[in-house]
Amino acid sequence: MYSDKLFDSIAEGGDFQAFGSADDLRAYIGWYHRDVDPAFGCPITRVFADHRLDDDQARDWLLQQVQQLAPTLGNDADLMVDPCYPSIARAWLDAGFRISSVMLVGRTELALQRLMQHKNPTPDLTHLGLTMRQAQPEDVDELVELRRVVFAAEPEWCWFGAGPGALEHFRERFLNAPADRGGVTEVIMDGDRIVGTCDADWSVNPMWGSLGGFGLIFRRSIRGQGVAKTAYRRMLQNLVDHDIPLFRGSTAQPAVMGLAALMERRLSGWTLRRDEYFEAGHWGQLNP
Ligand SMILES: CC(C)(COP(=O)(O)OP(=O)(O)OC[C@H]1O[C@@H](n2cnc3c(N)ncnc32)[C@H](O)[C@@H]1OP(=O)(O)O)[C@@H](O)C(=O)NCCC(=O)NCCS
Repeated sequence: MYSDKLFDSIAEGGDFQAFGSADDLRAYIGWYHRDVDPAFGCPITRVFADHRLDDDQARDWLLQQVQQLAPTLGNDADLMVDPCYPSIARAWLDAGFRISSVMLVGRTELALQRLMQHKNPTPDLTHLGLTMRQAQPEDVDELVELRRVVFAAEPEWCWFGAGPGALEHFRERFLNAPADRGGVTEVIMDGDRIVGTCDADWSVNPMWGSLGGFGLIFRRSIRGQGVAKTAYRRMLQNLVDHDIPLFRGSTAQPAVMGLAALMERRLSGWTLRRDEYFEAGHWGQLNP
């Protein structure tokens, strides 16, 4: 089913090259272009590639393909490389791509345990004069505006987040959650003003099983005071309560990566783009 969808997308505009034979596929690389990506709301060129891990010839073929393909790709190229393939990731970096975010996966119960053990965050934010409550449909305009303001000012954390397409996608999913997803969104209130939000959602992933994910967006006025730690405590508890064993998400945020290390989250992918937001030093141990 997946490969059919993929080949439909390639047929609309893209390419696919394989190494080996039809019944002995050893490596492949492909790309397809979409004028409007449904989640990002803007043009995107997705690149995907793989090779047999124990096959040096296949890896070398793929490295060559990366060198040939990379110069033909523009700023809308977006790809994820699995940490099993550091030489492929390095080939993309040598060809002018940059790490735009890292995908981190964690075990929900262990992460909560480690968070409590290392940081023991407060269960709420009353000590900061802030309150937290479940988001309501009537919060939608303020939530859209929060995303727009934060990501317009700081696109390095989410390059597409302030675009009209992405904001519309958020609005639609917030008001009409897809039937195959569960989730909780909370808002952080300073008086009657929303100054931040965090959400946990979960669904069944064909590869990972029940899988959760988080979102955190705070106005600058409440950052650096431990609010993320409290938000993680509450969201992780939500996933534990719903028996979701794993959670995964992409980030470039130092605070999120720092907490992820404490929670024993592991790298599960590098997102690579031509964005020039971060130098290699930003990623520390997570570099390929
Ligand atoms: C990412 C974000 C939610 C972090 O929130 P925050 O309230 O500033 O984070 P906290 O103060 O709770 O910090 C949590 C921990 O992260 C670590 N940390 C914070 N800033 C850090 C930094 N710049 N570098 C390394 N570690 C850092 C610290 O360990 C800190 O714990 P400590 O205070 O006990 O030392 C917030 O900055 C934000 O909303 N940013 C913009 C939106 C965004 O990027 N969202 C996407 C996130 S994937």
